[in-house]
Amino acid sequence: MKVLGISGSPRSGGNTELLIQTALKELESEGLETEFISLADREIRPCDGCAACVGMNPPACVQDDPGFEGIIDAFREADGILVGSPVYFGSATPQTMALLDRVGYVSYRNDKFLRHKVGAAIVVARRAGQNFTFAQLNYFFLINEMFVPGSTYWNIAIGKEKGEVASDEEGMQTVKNLAGNMAFLLRKLHA
Ligand SMILES: Cc1cc2nc3c(=O)[nH]c(=O)nc-3n(C[C@H](O)[C@H](O)[C@H](O)COP(=O)(O)O)c2cc1C
Repeated sequence: MKVLGISGSPRSGGNTELLIQTALKELESEGLETEFISLADREIRPCDGCAACVGMNPPACVQDDPGFEGIIDAFREADGILVGSPVYFGSATPQTMALLDRVGYVSYRNDKFLRHKVGAAIVVARRAGQNFTFAQLNYFFLINEMFVPGSTYWNIAIGKEKGEVASDEEGMQTVKNLAGNMAFLLRKLHA
């Protein structure tokens, strides 16, 4: 079984990457395969609403930006999806939403390949907006018929400068517990 971890921060080596990597490491220790994608390395255009993906065979996005290359396959191949985003003015980053809009629409309007995968959000901010952004990302999982595991708190953490989130002990532990629960759920689903 495989889990794909996406960091939706445009800042490489930042808090979102650290949180996603922490969760992936935990999943690996549970015997799961993982893949990590950082949107700091990729420029992904937003969905332009052309709807050309509707009915396409195989389902794909017609925009040809290199940053999006391989993304649909990575989602298709994964049994679990972890999406991390920093809070930007109370919301997920545009990078995160550009990715989710395009993957989500290709899936939703075609063969619904996201259906029955496990999805979880991880959110970090300096001070506020985590809960809203956490809900925002969960809306994506839920409309796509995905299963969402919980943790010992909502999967939110606190940090501003790069790496600062490591000192949010509860946030780090919440993410590790989330990963454990994700592995548990995946094992039950694929038993
Ligand atoms: C454009 C922008 C908007 C931000 N908006 C918020 C916000 O609404 N609330 C907050 O607490 N922190 C906000 N922050 C701080 C980031 O969420 C915080 O630094 C986070 O740790 C960045 O994650 P990263 O290291 O993964 O990039 C903002 C940062 C930027 C650059």
